[in-house]
Amino acid sequence: MGRAKKVVLAYSGGVDTSVCIPYLMHEWGVEEVITLAADLGQGDELEPVREKALKSGASISLVADATADFVKDYAFPAIQANALYENQYPLSTALARPLIAKLLVDAAAEYGADAVAHGCTGKGNDQVRFDVAIAALNPDIKVLTPAREWGMSREETIAYGERFGIESPVKKSSPYSIDKNLLGRAIEAGPLEDPWTEPPEDVYTMTAALADAPDQPEYVEIGFEQGIPVSLNGKTVEPVALVTALNQIVGAHSVGRIDMIENRLVGIKSREVYETPALSVLIQAHRDLESLTLTPDLIHYKRGIEETYSRLVYNGLWYSPLRDALDAFVKKSQERVTGAVRVKLFKGNSIVVGRKSAYSIYSPELATYGAEDTFDHKAAEGFIYVWGMPTRVWAQTGRQ
Ligand code: ARG
Repeated sequence: MGRAKKVVLAYSGGVDTSVCIPYLMHEWGVEEVITLAADLGQGDELEPVREKALKSGASISLVADATADFVKDYAFPAIQANALYENQYPLSTALARPLIAKLLVDAAAEYGADAVAHGCTGKGNDQVRFDVAIAALNPDIKVLTPAREWGMSREETIAYGERFGIESPVKKSSPYSIDKNLLGRAIEAGPLEDPWTEPPEDVYTMTAALADAPDQPEYVEIGFEQGIPVSLNGKTVEPVALVTALNQIVGAHSVGRIDMIENRLVGIKSREVYETPALSVLIQAHRDLESLTLTPDLIHYKRGIEETYSRLVYNGLWYSPLRDALDAFVKKSQERVTGAVRVKLFKGNSIVVGRKSAYSIYSPELATYGAEDTFDHKAAEGFIYVWGMPTRVWAQTGRQ
């Protein structure tokens, strides 16, 4: 008796997920492996991936184009929440996992599979995200995780695959571990494991080298409606096209690179390099528009929500009652976050240089230092008397 009869496996086309196919069948007695490759705008040709799964022993090889859902249902809510893990990482990989989990669970239902599987190892965050998201969507389905259990080295994995006709990687495989989708690339391992080593230029593909960035600044105007990015330079653009175009514009100026030591959920510190050109600038612009349109107490309170939200997404709790509740708060907060933000891109910098909104609560008559000033200066005196009262009393008491 195998661990499951029919399994839907998350498939990328790499050696590890390919080896999962014969491994599930020959070591764990699975009768049928259906693979599912998700197109999340990573820009790879997926037809060869589809064929490779069949050659590696899959009975059915599915390709799901989920890019539009990825941007609308995962990236945009995260932008509304200004989600940055540890204040830097805009969660480009973390946001993809719950969507892939959903595709797996849906396919399992459609094809009558009794288990789903993924090729994550036991050291990362992604295994947590998959396992928890799958459990949230279908608490009864089994999750098989061959790569977490097989204990094979890279060489052993390749040798195992060769026994079943899975070609070893032709070119000397890159020293990096890379995850990518439309929102960005995450790069780790190889020389990056030394936190003192500067990332070699060849790790980057979405962002130009600083030395190659144009000598002239470029301005881009991003329009938001209720916190959702809807236009570029005054033209309405569909979500996927907007992110795609903005990746190009921003990446050309070498903006969107992140090099950080991050705290994984499994307790390990890791050095990760990211390039998330569009996503980083969208969050920067969105946050700025909030500063123009929201009241101070709402902004300050929301910052705490954002911190919780980011950690929750990072830690694999996308499908959770807490995110549902936080999302309701965030959505409500966005009702007037409509307007435009002008960003200047220049030599690795993105600088907000202008913002406007029909809901702006910035008042020029109150803010001005000129003659048009309508602020009642005398009112400040009484306010400060009351505001400073506890401090004054405290100081007086301390003197006695
Ligand atoms: N550290 C990131 C995260 O946990 C990315 C993980 C995948 N990174 C990679 N280079 N394969 O979301």
